[in-house]
Amino acid sequence: MARVLIIDDDPAMAQVMSALCTEVGHTAITYSSASKALKLLMSHAPQLVITQSNAGNGSDLEVLKACRASLPHVPVILITGNKSVSGAVAAMRAGAADYILKPLHMGDLKEAIQRALSDAGSYFPDSSARVREGDSFENIIGRSARMQGIFELIGKVARTDSTILITGESGTGKELVARALHFNSGRQSQPFVAINCSALPENLLESELFGHKKGSFTGAVQDKVGLFEEAEGGTIFLDEINSMAALLQTKLLRVLQERVIRRVGENLNIPIHVRVLAASNEPLFEKMKAGGFREDLYYRLAVIPLEVPPLRERREDIPLLVEHFLQKHAVFSKSSRVATLDQRAMEALCSYSWPGNVRELENAVERACALCENGVVQLSDLPPHVVKSEFLSQSGAVPQPAENYATSSPLPIGRPLSEFIAAQERRFIEETIRANRGVRERAAQVLGISSATLYRKLDAASMPPIQKVADSL
Ligand SMILES: Nc1ncnc2c1ncn2[C@@H]1O[C@H](COP(=O)(O)OP(=O)(O)OP(=O)(O)O)[C@@H](O)[C@H]1O
Ligand SMILES: [Mg+2]
Repeated sequence: MARVLIIDDDPAMAQVMSALCTEVGHTAITYSSASKALKLLMSHAPQLVITQSNAGNGSDLEVLKACRASLPHVPVILITGNKSVSGAVAAMRAGAADYILKPLHMGDLKEAIQRALSDAGSYFPDSSARVREGDSFENIIGRSARMQGIFELIGKVARTDSTILITGESGTGKELVARALHFNSGRQSQPFVAINCSALPENLLESELFGHKKGSFTGAVQDKVGLFEEAEGGTIFLDEINSMAALLQTKLLRVLQERVIRRVGENLNIPIHVRVLAASNEPLFEKMKAGGFREDLYYRLAVIPLEVPPLRERREDIPLLVEHFLQKHAVFSKSSRVATLDQRAMEALCSYSWPGNVRELENAVERACALCENGVVQLSDLPPHVVKSEFLSQSGAVPQPAENYATSSPLPIGRPLSEFIAAQERRFIEETIRANRGVRERAAQVLGISSATLYRKLDAASMPPIQKVADSL
């Protein structure tokens, strides 16, 4: 049985496909809005995505690319009206597991679903290697001592059933670590189910986690199996656990202690055999000490604490990560050509402070690959704020906090005032984000601006599209 996510802007068609999935023994979730589906992509953790769009303009390709970027090991079937060979080639290059032409025949779809699920993992060689190779974590890049220490810890604890709390600023790779823990455990052939606890209001999160009985609240039109049950035998990853409401924390504690769940509206105890991994993008110990998180739950979760350091504290990983992302981008690009970086561009990347950590670096590299000419990334292909920090700290030294620029750095005489002020503002915002351990919402509060303004000022182009929407839910 697989979890299938169906995205089709025609709801009737989505229902037909959903019925087919159920008929062949899978569970399906349907969305008629691609943006909504992509928002919840990570929390649904689908094992197969089927997408169809009547909107044209390559919108289905965009959905395909977004899915491949967020969940590279999940096959995507594209249903399209584009009958040209170039359309098919573009879809396969963008990583589609299969490509079906309209008008859609259910027989074709059924076959494609079976094929995609049986091939899952092998059509993208990277991921099958990742799953099979017991104790290597080749998709997590890092040669720094801090990352090596993390690899060692993963190696030691992956095979245990201990609950692990992964902390670290946003974009440091917490989810990647959680996946490595699962795929290197004895549970690797069982489900890995991830849920972002900040993406749903409390009551919906409860029914998402534990399921509900039909009629238990308005909108509960049928019985629903919760994610704990879906993860049976495998691993559940409770992301952004720091944002879980107090009452739900109490319920989760009971589940961890008694290893049983109760669906909302039902009195039956259902035993579960699920390993729990949790992540927090703010220091949970401090939050617990300040009374913002249950102490007993904290200690239940943090049986083994694992902290992923911010990128600025392991700069020696940057060149390796850049190389990795250049190659990763080539897989998705039309030309499949791996771009290279000129020296100044690499220096700028190595000296920037990366408040959005590895995710921000990945976005910058992806952007540069799209903009660069002749396959060589230059300074001008990098996001302006990355270059500006290099340009302001002209010596190429590691950037200093904002106020130092005004006093100790050589002033960039000859440049427009607006550019200088924008660079100062940006550094100030970044330092505030850093002082708040990467939690942008808190930084926005401190700065007295809305989160939306903060994101806008940080340059929408350098922010991850999916996470950005999820954050603002
Ligand atoms: N060490 C790494 N090697 C390769 N890719 C990485 C590494 N760390 C992070 N990434 C990539 O950076 C992006 C962000 O990683 P991830 O989602 O695991 O971060 P996170 O800590 O869960 O962030 P958030 O708190 O915002 O959810 C992903 O695309 C991931 O593949
Ligand atoms: Mg995450």
